[in-house]
Amino acid sequence: MKMKADYKFFVMICLGVSSLVGQGIYNEHRDVYLSTEEMIQSYGYPVEIHEIITEDGYILNMYRIPHGKVGSKVNQKPILLMHGVYGQGENYIVNGINNGSLAYLLADNGFDVWLGNSRGTQHGRKHISLNPTSKEFWDFSFHEIGMYDLPAKIDYILESTKKEKLHYVGHSQGGTVFYVMASMRPEYQQKVTLASLLAPGGYEKHFTNSFLLPFTVRHRELTKLADVANIYELPPYTMKLFQMVSTACSTAVFREICVFAYHMVSGGDSGELNEQILPLVFKYLPTVSTKQLLHYAQTIASGHMRPWDYGTKKNMELYGQPVPSDYPVENISVPMAMYYSLGDNLAFAKDIEDICDTMQNCVRKFLMPNEKWTHMDFLASKNLAHELNEPLLEFIQDFENAANLDGF
Ligand SMILES: *[C@@H]1O[C@H](CO)[C@@H](O)[C@H](O)[C@H]1NC(C)=O
Ligand SMILES: *[C@@H]1O[C@H](CO)[C@@H](O)[C@H](O)[C@H]1NC(C)=O
Repeated sequence: MKMKADYKFFVMICLGVSSLVGQGIYNEHRDVYLSTEEMIQSYGYPVEIHEIITEDGYILNMYRIPHGKVGSKVNQKPILLMHGVYGQGENYIVNGINNGSLAYLLADNGFDVWLGNSRGTQHGRKHISLNPTSKEFWDFSFHEIGMYDLPAKIDYILESTKKEKLHYVGHSQGGTVFYVMASMRPEYQQKVTLASLLAPGGYEKHFTNSFLLPFTVRHRELTKLADVANIYELPPYTMKLFQMVSTACSTAVFREICVFAYHMVSGGDSGELNEQILPLVFKYLPTVSTKQLLHYAQTIASGHMRPWDYGTKKNMELYGQPVPSDYPVENISVPMAMYYSLGDNLAFAKDIEDICDTMQNCVRKFLMPNEKWTHMDFLASKNLAHELNEPLLEFIQDFENAANLDGF
């Protein structure tokens, strides 16, 4: 347990240095000290935890906010919110109230909100037989999340609520996994009224992120290296890297470094980051499977959105062809709305417009008004309420009303 001791030591150093320079904790966010349930309850919302088991044995928790503080408390319409890579359900509540958090806004406006967590997140580190420290546990990518996690969640929600359909919202990988499910298990499309995708990843033909491109080009070497070195979880859980960063972000001395690191990862400073919530954002960063990242690298390098490429020999055994076929996105007919930005250098606007045009029923292309809006601004912008959440809610409501009218 040497690592654990190191982590405590690090926290003490951070807090110590910070008090020495006389500023103490700069950015103490009350919610950092609360559990997810406590955080939701503290804002006056009801919360439930539900456990589901996927076809392939992963045990995942979902948080449910069945209704809001205002408005109706019965007959709410179910909506599933899915996070991206390095995200989890808390993404949709870290901005507190006043419409900054999509989950509360939806709960107050007639929705029964379910916060999904994929395998590997802090709420998805259990399996009926595999140990989360084993290589086998981490042998998954966005493919399995789309094939098994999403269907299990959707079935569970519809069963619990006795409804026929739900709404879906997905950020980044939350879009990719929806494409996987909708194209490969098309029967699930009937269970979704509308999928609203925020900066969805998937088509990566226009990916020009100069920081990440060199890694994607070397994905084969990196895959071998990760395999030999047994690096199947990133960063390794025992490092507690994100908890360290979360602590550091709460202190005056490290604040600037923290903000800088955030802008590096999110692809620039749009001037919209809500710096107050950074400790909370880092607190809820899960680790991810190395394969998840490498699968995106394959997608970028090949220009094809398709299942994992094992190399010719194993592909022949598994898929009966030298390379896997692309996911048939042209078959997707479920209504889809896209929210994206020109300033996003992880999910490129042109790719999102292309996939929208390829699908049969993409009903909205909503380009963010601030051209510098980044990939992470979809979760942590100061202006989330007015720039994204409210227009998103309004569209979902209009769509829902129109769908109901069509039914008569
Ligand atoms: C929150 O959003 C609703 C619905 O879009 C709007 O009517 C309300 O004024 C907003 N509230 C705040 C505090 O901005
Ligand atoms: C996609 O549509 C084509 C043409 O209708 C069909 O042949 C194919 O089986 C579909 N793919 C899947 C995975 O359903």
